[in-house]
Amino acid sequence: MHLALEILVCLLQCVWLWLVAILKAVVPASLQPHKDVSGWVVLVTGSGSGLGRLMSLRFAALGCRLVLWDVNESWNQETEKLVQAASSGAKVKAYTVDLSDREQVYAVADKVKQEVGDVDILINNAGIVTGTMFLETPDSMNIKTMDINCNAHFWTVKSFLPAMLKKNRGHVVSIASAAGLFGVSGLSDYCASKFAAVGFDESLRAELVKKGKTGVKTTVVCPFYINTGMFEGAQTRFPAVLKFLDPPYVVDKIVEAVLTDQAMLCIPKSVYMFYFLRGILPISVNQTIGKLVGVSETMDNFVGRSKSQ
Ligand SMILES: *[C@@H]1O[C@H](CO)[C@@H](O)[C@H](O)[C@H]1NC(C)=O
Ligand SMILES: *[C@@H]1O[C@H](CO)[C@@H](O)[C@H](O)[C@H]1NC(C)=O
Repeated sequence: MHLALEILVCLLQCVWLWLVAILKAVVPASLQPHKDVSGWVVLVTGSGSGLGRLMSLRFAALGCRLVLWDVNESWNQETEKLVQAASSGAKVKAYTVDLSDREQVYAVADKVKQEVGDVDILINNAGIVTGTMFLETPDSMNIKTMDINCNAHFWTVKSFLPAMLKKNRGHVVSIASAAGLFGVSGLSDYCASKFAAVGFDESLRAELVKKGKTGVKTTVVCPFYINTGMFEGAQTRFPAVLKFLDPPYVVDKIVEAVLTDQAMLCIPKSVYMFYFLRGILPISVNQTIGKLVGVSETMDNFVGRSKSQ
């Protein structure tokens, strides 16, 4: 009797939440309730370039205080200047940190807590890619890729989540990739690290729910290739279905997702469709479709950022 009641309540909840989710999917994000983040402290890793720089500018415009983390001091200082120039009076502080060094991450995190205070929105954005076939990829790059794209998320979350839990307010954002949902030839260690980041976000969300910390949210972002230079030379066969994304558009979507507490963001929308298909199709069928779409060929002419500059 007790269980029957529990099942009934669960069913009703599911129907209700499904309706809410459908509503959220069809109502334009601009019309949905947004959380007010002005005065919040936002930490962005990899803020020296690409998405990281653009997100920093966007959150500063929303009245946030910015903490910029990048390994490249000069680029990071450039972002700091740009933020100050774009939002006069914006509070922003740049820190040089090598995310592949755990001790350094903890040390700089302590410095941030002393000098700026608690972080409200943590954006784990920094990432690297080697882009070679697995057997041609040196061990050092396998390790670095896992360290920066995944392990660094552990150290930053351990540093900044406790204060969020205490206040029951905060947001952890993981910039993963569509390569965190699909394996791609030429991206084996990158995919491993991004799958890991996706799994970490999902588990973290489960822990937050279990703890009843409804004010602390997570968002995982899974975009297809973005025109930031990181994936210079990569290609897509059907740009109508899987198009290269423009950084400002991606940043629009990410900020929107954070402000509306969206748990998962895939862009373009076709990524959701492929994700659904891989869940229901036999692997052989999925592979055959993947062959047509040319997923395994996307990295054939990759040059990347290091080699293109
Ligand atoms: C930062 O990036 C620039 C441009 O690629 C490079 O010239 C410089 O050496 C980098 N600095 C560090 C500390 O990596
Ligand atoms: C399904 O196909 C996609 C596209 O080719 C591929 O990236 C993914 O790894 C495939 N999934 C499985 C389980 O083989």
